[in-house]
Amino acid sequence: MATRTILVEGDPALLKKSRRIVKFDDRLAMLADDMTETMYSGDGVGLAAPQVGVLRRLFVMDTGDGDGPVTFVNPEILSEEGEQRGIEGCLSLPGLVGIVPRPLTVRVRAQDVAGTFFEKTYTGLAARCVCHETDHLDGILYRQRSETVLCTLEEFEEQQKREREKSIRFAFMGTPVFATVVLNQLEQAGYLPSLVITQPDRPSGRGKTLTAPPAAVWAKDRQIPLIQPASCRDPALADALRELSPEVIVTASFGQYLPPSILSLPEKGCVNVHASLLPKYRGSSPIQAAILSGDKETGVTLMVMDKGFDTGPVIAKAAYPIDDEIDAGQLSLALAKLGGELVARELPRYLAGEITAAAQDESEATETHMLRKEDGRVDFNKSARDVHNHIRAMSPWPGAFAYLNGKRYKLLRSRVHACGGDACGAPGEIRVSGHRMFISCAEGAIELLNIQAQSGSAMCVDQCAHNFECGALFCGAEES
Ligand code: NI
Repeated sequence: MATRTILVEGDPALLKKSRRIVKFDDRLAMLADDMTETMYSGDGVGLAAPQVGVLRRLFVMDTGDGDGPVTFVNPEILSEEGEQRGIEGCLSLPGLVGIVPRPLTVRVRAQDVAGTFFEKTYTGLAARCVCHETDHLDGILYRQRSETVLCTLEEFEEQQKREREKSIRFAFMGTPVFATVVLNQLEQAGYLPSLVITQPDRPSGRGKTLTAPPAAVWAKDRQIPLIQPASCRDPALADALRELSPEVIVTASFGQYLPPSILSLPEKGCVNVHASLLPKYRGSSPIQAAILSGDKETGVTLMVMDKGFDTGPVIAKAAYPIDDEIDAGQLSLALAKLGGELVARELPRYLAGEITAAAQDESEATETHMLRKEDGRVDFNKSARDVHNHIRAMSPWPGAFAYLNGKRYKLLRSRVHACGGDACGAPGEIRVSGHRMFISCAEGAIELLNIQAQSGSAMCVDQCAHNFECGALFCGAEES
């Protein structure tokens, strides 16, 4: 007996159809012996003659079922039954594996090295092997049959692990559109929460009709169990969570402080998607704060919640550039999408123990406050850049506002206007030029693009600029 060289993919012999064997002599017996030895030395469970460069219909197989090595000469698959999907490799494609569907059971008729016919039924791995080796005799490599791109075993195991991790049992707490965008990203990545918790329905719109928050609608659409506790201390919430026993709770813009009894409930804690690069801009208006400060970049942080406000250890961050014209509403959507992608990518790694959350640097921490309507008041005694940043930071809520002749206007959209010298007037002074309107600031001017009078609807300035008087003054307070 001798081992023979195994041809590897790329050799044209592997793609050729083999011929029937008609001579059952010593050479054939020696070929079968050599192939068996070669199969064992390559740690394979089967080997077909073309793989050692002999284009004859013969293969050997030993699947470790106790039958020992079997030689199949001129094999024919008489019948197939059922289906199995499983991992497959081949000595001619060394180091690679793929998922290949095969019949669960096959009935084979073949001859032994002496030419004696036999018939046998094989199932499971042996059936897979018979099909694989018969394919070789027809010049077919399993790459053609694989449902997956062939990869190394390590890569395959890594993918399998990821797949398993998709069965994460988690609850989601979140309320507005930001939360549904995060949920959509999770859903796209194959993760669905077992329970969604949102704020209660609230009256909204002019009719003050009771309206379900976006995340509640999202959960109902997918028939995912939903609770909307009036308070996080509601015992029904704790009961539902205890019953679910989630591995982790993901929160995104939930809108209520979580008590320690909830924070400590999941084994891996509560993981929050925060819309800033922590420790910068902790608190409830991080998006607005980043725009107000004129930052060129912000981002999202995935953080394990602790007792404090956005003070917990950080799992991962992702940065996002702040465009000069983007407003808080647009930036919020972009960050929610980025945040959802970040959770889908990094949460499984965190749960698998591949990432350790790192403490925040307290010396870098800054805080933001809950926005009130009053925060929208525009101060034209600031630079045009600051006023522009303020207007877009307040859009859509609470909305930047100023007064003109005692009437209140919402300033919806602006841009910084490069004006030189005498083009600028006193802070708040209006200049109308054709269909355009400019408002002077302490330094420079802004061009106003969209405006809304107190009881009117939002308008493009190019349709209403003629209604405004040159030299009139916008101011932050009603009286002047
Ligand atoms: Ni093979």
